[in-house]
Amino acid sequence: MKKYFVTGSYGQIGMDLIPAMLERYGKENVVATGRKKINPTFKELDVIYHRLDVRDEYGLRNLLVEYDIDIILHNASVLSATGEKNPQLAHSINFEGFYNVLEASRELNIEQLFVPSSIAAFGPTTPLVNTPNTTIMEPSSIYGISKVYIELMGSYYNKKYGLNFRSLRYPGVLSPEEPGGGTTDYAIWIFYEALKNMKYTCFLSADVTLPMMMMSDCLKSTFDLIEADDSKLKHRSFNVTGMSFNPEELANEINKYLPDFKIDYEPDFRDALARSWPQSLDDSVAREEWGWEPELPFEKMVPAMLDGVSERLGISYK
Ligand SMILES: NC(=O)c1ccc[n+]([C@@H]2O[C@H](COP(=O)([O-])OP(=O)(O)OC[C@H]3O[C@@H](n4cnc5c(N)ncnc54)[C@H](O)[C@@H]3O)[C@@H](O)[C@H]2O)c1
Repeated sequence: MKKYFVTGSYGQIGMDLIPAMLERYGKENVVATGRKKINPTFKELDVIYHRLDVRDEYGLRNLLVEYDIDIILHNASVLSATGEKNPQLAHSINFEGFYNVLEASRELNIEQLFVPSSIAAFGPTTPLVNTPNTTIMEPSSIYGISKVYIELMGSYYNKKYGLNFRSLRYPGVLSPEEPGGGTTDYAIWIFYEALKNMKYTCFLSADVTLPMMMMSDCLKSTFDLIEADDSKLKHRSFNVTGMSFNPEELANEINKYLPDFKIDYEPDFRDALARSWPQSLDDSVAREEWGWEPELPFEKMVPAMLDGVSERLGISYK
């Protein structure tokens, strides 16, 4: 069995990814790391956990050697909205932190390095409807620029050093877990506010359509890609998507379950960011090369989110 190493494990994705990895690969084969002290959920699951700031290159290497790691999932990142508030912090974590992981992977002959990219890697000059896998990428945010850097450096290390780098351009990922400061976060907070107050003020305009996927599909795409046969991969970074919708369409769908729910709009700086991103993605390259297929459509996502968030809040809605 291979040994897996995850950075940024306490994030929105990590909180679901780590338990799923324990089940899939066995708890002795998964090393979770993060900047914070171990949390009660991970303690209960008896996760192998170490505190690690990805900017600490020696700490990183020591752990990779100590556990004889084969595969790294590098999730630590500053997200889009937080990055725009502090571009210098985003640079140090998203560029320098990633570079530490990339170089350690090369020097220690790590078998595979997986790093999430994002729809934020695209920008206003990209064709925004059914965005192809290979197209113009001129992002306008520091977060998006870091994702293009990650994709290009990963591909360069693959060609130059044979590093088995793989990346997925996740759209907005939906789960009841509190999100970490991204622009697609509205599609999670809306469920919290709908259940608590029957009202949500959205920081995007009603008509801003973005691609999204449910966490179950995010994990499925991640496992499918990291386990894919390398000889089948012609690309290193892949579009993946589950659905596309705008805030108004989401509110209308929520109204089917909560008829009294109301939404209003106070767009802020995130509106311009979101408008520079794809409305929908063409994920045919992922489908062709490693058989990607999403499972959870929009209509099933809404009741799944309502169930998950209502359980977290202890508020029944049925
Ligand atoms: N959640 C989404 O909708 C989404 C969409 C596209 C791409 N992604 C990508 O997926 C990955 C995980 O995202 P997420 O939603 O879990 O993000 P998140 O913000 O919830 O989690 C990121 C984690 O990284 C940690 N971190 C930050 N700086 C660190 C450092 N210096 N050292 C170690 N850890 C550090 C944070 O503490 C946090 O736990 C990121 O690369 C993100 O860009 C996420």
